[in-house]
Amino acid sequence: QRVSLWGGRFAGGPADALAALSKSTHFDWRLAGQDIAGSKAHAKVLHAAGLLDDTELEGMHAALDRLREDVASGAFVPAEGDEDVHTALERGLIERAGLELGGKLRAGRSRNDQIATLVRMYLRDESRVIVGLVLDVVDALTEQATAAGEAAMPGRTHLQHAQPVLLAHHLLAHAWPLLRDVDRFVDWDVRAARSPYGSGALAGSSLGLDPAAVAAELGFDGPVENSIDGTAARDVVAEFAFVSAMLAVDLSRLAEEVIAWATKEFGFVRLHDSYSTGSSIMPQKKNPDVAELARGKAGRIIGDLTGLLATLKGLPLAYNRDLQEDKEPVFDQVDTLEVLLPAFAGMVATLEFDTDRMAELAPQGFSLATDIAEWLVRQGVPFRVAHEVAGSCVRVCEDRGIELWDLSDEDLADISDHLTPGVREVLSVSGSLASRDAVGGTAPARVAEQLTEAKAKAVEF
Ligand code: ARG
Repeated sequence: QRVSLWGGRFAGGPADALAALSKSTHFDWRLAGQDIAGSKAHAKVLHAAGLLDDTELEGMHAALDRLREDVASGAFVPAEGDEDVHTALERGLIERAGLELGGKLRAGRSRNDQIATLVRMYLRDESRVIVGLVLDVVDALTEQATAAGEAAMPGRTHLQHAQPVLLAHHLLAHAWPLLRDVDRFVDWDVRAARSPYGSGALAGSSLGLDPAAVAAELGFDGPVENSIDGTAARDVVAEFAFVSAMLAVDLSRLAEEVIAWATKEFGFVRLHDSYSTGSSIMPQKKNPDVAELARGKAGRIIGDLTGLLATLKGLPLAYNRDLQEDKEPVFDQVDTLEVLLPAFAGMVATLEFDTDRMAELAPQGFSLATDIAEWLVRQGVPFRVAHEVAGSCVRVCEDRGIELWDLSDEDLADISDHLTPGVREVLSVSGSLASRDAVGGTAPARVAEQLTEAKAKAVEF
């Protein structure tokens, strides 16, 4: 027997095909805890408005507590005929409180304001879980940066050798975007902390119920300012989806580097056995599956955001049933991130860098050419000329198959009068690194400060 919430006006129940289409318990059941908390808060404002007496409030709360326990233990689950989490829990309440009392709770609220509130509650909780897991990745990066000390690596642009940098500097360049993602979740929460409860179907309630009291009870900073907006808006959900997608993209960019670094050609990093997989046919293989899954899952998480935005774009105010489609995308993001992040943190924490190889490659590909040009500038040579001169050094070396530091004093003098043997002081990785000593630069002293700053930022949250 299918129990609907709108019996009176209808001669019969919905067709099976409609019921099957309409049903959402298979994904919204995870909001049962929030729904019951909302119901308890709602019962309180009904009581405050004189619509439930003391005994009724007590009975309602007792029944809701029992329902919560039965949901937690699995004794109460949605039935075949329950359309959504609200329908199922109303049935459960009536089974426990009786039709007379249980039937009173629905006054002054609608599933429209309920669902909008529950999704916010759920996402606010999960955002805190995700933030904790992101900070574990940040910790893994700062630990690796600490361990890397003053190890150098080839810094790249266009994937080509560009200038030497500290490995720690590069690792921290992945930590900062993740810290900003955490910042974004925290900032998002300010906007998510408004409760739609009390908006009713769209126009608010006539029963003297206090939305601010419900909001406070449910951990919100206050109620929404507008009941139509409260039931119709999903920008808060979409913003969560964006921050999740940005996080996934930031992880994916690091993942891509790990994948490249682990190749024979790069040889920068060895993956720990516990965070890599083998091949069923090639006995020698050690594959970077965690990183590849991170890269792959970023695609799906972006898809969740895109799908949600597409669902929202044509909707008139206020509630439309399309809005039921807001949940699966963000639930998928939450589930995906919560399974991905721990593995990702483990992978990063256990990376073993071949710092000798990285250091050996750091000055190759003429990555010190900029240092020659900047050395010349410090001698008073205009940069345009300095750039030409350094470029000539590279050309000569390339022709002869030698490196910049192999140029003899005569070679240097032949290329330009400005090139005295003093230039050699910057023709080393350590000289180059030390010279980039402004704030944010790769000089070891600056990177040490940056590391302290990143660690301090991570514990702020
Ligand atoms: N299950 C719906 C949702 O997730 C809420 C129900 C609102 N239904 C309605 N007919 N107004 O959005």
